[in-house]
Amino acid sequence: MSSNLPEGDAPLYKMWVNGLEVVAQDDTTIDVLNPAFQTTIAKVPHASTADVGKAVDAAAKAFRGWRHWPAKERAEAMLKIADCIEAEAEALATLLATETGNALRTAARPEAAGAVGIFRYYAGVASEAKGETVPLSAGKLSYTVREPLGVVAAIIPWNSPVAAAAVKIASAIAVGNTIVVKAAEDAPLSALKLSAICNRFLPPGVVNCITGYGKETGAHLTAHPEVRKISFTGSTETGKAIMRAAAEKIIPVSLELGGKSPSIVFPSADSDWAVDGVMAAMRFTRQSQSCTAGSRLFVHREIYDAFLDKLATRLNRLVVGDPLEESTDMGALINDRQYTKVNDYVRCGLAEPSARLLSGGESPRQGNLSEGYFALPTLISGVHNSWRVAREEIFGPVLVAIPWSDESEVLEMANDTHYGLAAYIWTTQLGEAMRCSSAIDAGWIQVNSGTAPGAGISFGGMKESGFGREFSLEGMLESFTQRKSITLDFSNT
Ligand code: NAI
Ligand code: MG
Repeated sequence: MSSNLPEGDAPLYKMWVNGLEVVAQDDTTIDVLNPAFQTTIAKVPHASTADVGKAVDAAAKAFRGWRHWPAKERAEAMLKIADCIEAEAEALATLLATETGNALRTAARPEAAGAVGIFRYYAGVASEAKGETVPLSAGKLSYTVREPLGVVAAIIPWNSPVAAAAVKIASAIAVGNTIVVKAAEDAPLSALKLSAICNRFLPPGVVNCITGYGKETGAHLTAHPEVRKISFTGSTETGKAIMRAAAEKIIPVSLELGGKSPSIVFPSADSDWAVDGVMAAMRFTRQSQSCTAGSRLFVHREIYDAFLDKLATRLNRLVVGDPLEESTDMGALINDRQYTKVNDYVRCGLAEPSARLLSGGESPRQGNLSEGYFALPTLISGVHNSWRVAREEIFGPVLVAIPWSDESEVLEMANDTHYGLAAYIWTTQLGEAMRCSSAIDAGWIQVNSGTAPGAGISFGGMKESGFGREFSLEGMLESFTQRKSITLDFSNT
């Protein structure tokens, strides 16, 4: 990526390794862009194998002490981190909005506030890593303890870097692991700031955060022999590479991958609240750069035209613009690659004879919005479930509407995908809600609700959307602890 500012103008953000801010050993850097203006805003180190090694060594050394901290003391440190994130939330949100293009009011502020809740939640459950006892016979007892895994490698994406980093850091360290986070090259600054806050309250090496490209820095990290667990959020394709790296070392992975989640509207939901819900589920205010976006909209034929009219009217009212403006609902896409990809899909969908554009369309070529990677909230009607726009993850604000008339038909279409992350059902009929919830193969089903995952709710995918659950107490235990059985015979002692 080339900078369009003179050398030296963009500040260098450093990595966090062993409690210290560091640059890359060979001093190389990567430019970080503001996608709304296509300007270089910062540089971050381009970590090499040697830098990755230092971070993992620091985490491995810190693990020896951190694993034995009483859970209550780990929790106290995490509560201080939460308070500090809260105190610095506005600065964190502004940095997040600037590097991702996500709107401050609708996306970045809620995400920064969410990180506070995440640290408080995992601090609250840090003492819950309990085991079981098995009474084998008189004088013989077996019990289990849950132990941390060791050094966790966390690979995070750019779409919600603060939330992803917060969940992985908090759930891993709460139960005694240490962590090396590899921030996404497109949005590393807010993850570095979060790591800076963590390092104010933790022993050196418990939380490390490095920067670099995925295929280099990320791959070096996942291949490092001291890494005992990989937690990944990102594309299904990269998820396969991560799993291969884990297979080489026989270590566990959690994979939170892509999605093409159905949003099914029944006739009883032909109302404004369902329109708002469908919009929220599609995550339009995050430019739909969300793995849980309800991006396939199945509307019952009885209400199809009326519902889509209402939806298009609402979408046309969304304000797309400068992420830092309070009036902005929707900011910019992350980079040129996503911008090109999203516009290619819009063209591809509209090339079909039966497709109708009800809102949005290709990105503006003139005016303010042409200066950044902006996309319009787009609704394409008359789509068939077999089209590429209905099968592939667009990761942009392009909602495709497909009509249906029979419940079994819509359920079949909903499940006709290699993904299985989320699903949204809009109905006031209990039977419809329950039948759909039970029939759809997805990790998280919401009925009349389109919220994003929050701490406490089990969250993760089925099928090629991945496996492993991290957002809940159970997820923390499954993903970041291992059971050890201890069998005691005290009959002869
Ligand atoms: P990606 O999956 O390649 O990147 C996510 C993270 O993985 C980044 O930190 C990247 O540096 C790292 N990475 C990439 N290759 C790696 C490797 N071989 N070993 C270790 N780490 C590696 O996603 P990308 O390229 O940014 O976006 C492509 C598509 O992926 C998007 O269009 C979208 O469809 C999907 N995606 C899904 C996300 C989700 O939340 N499930 C998040 C980001 C992207
Ligand atoms: Mg990639």
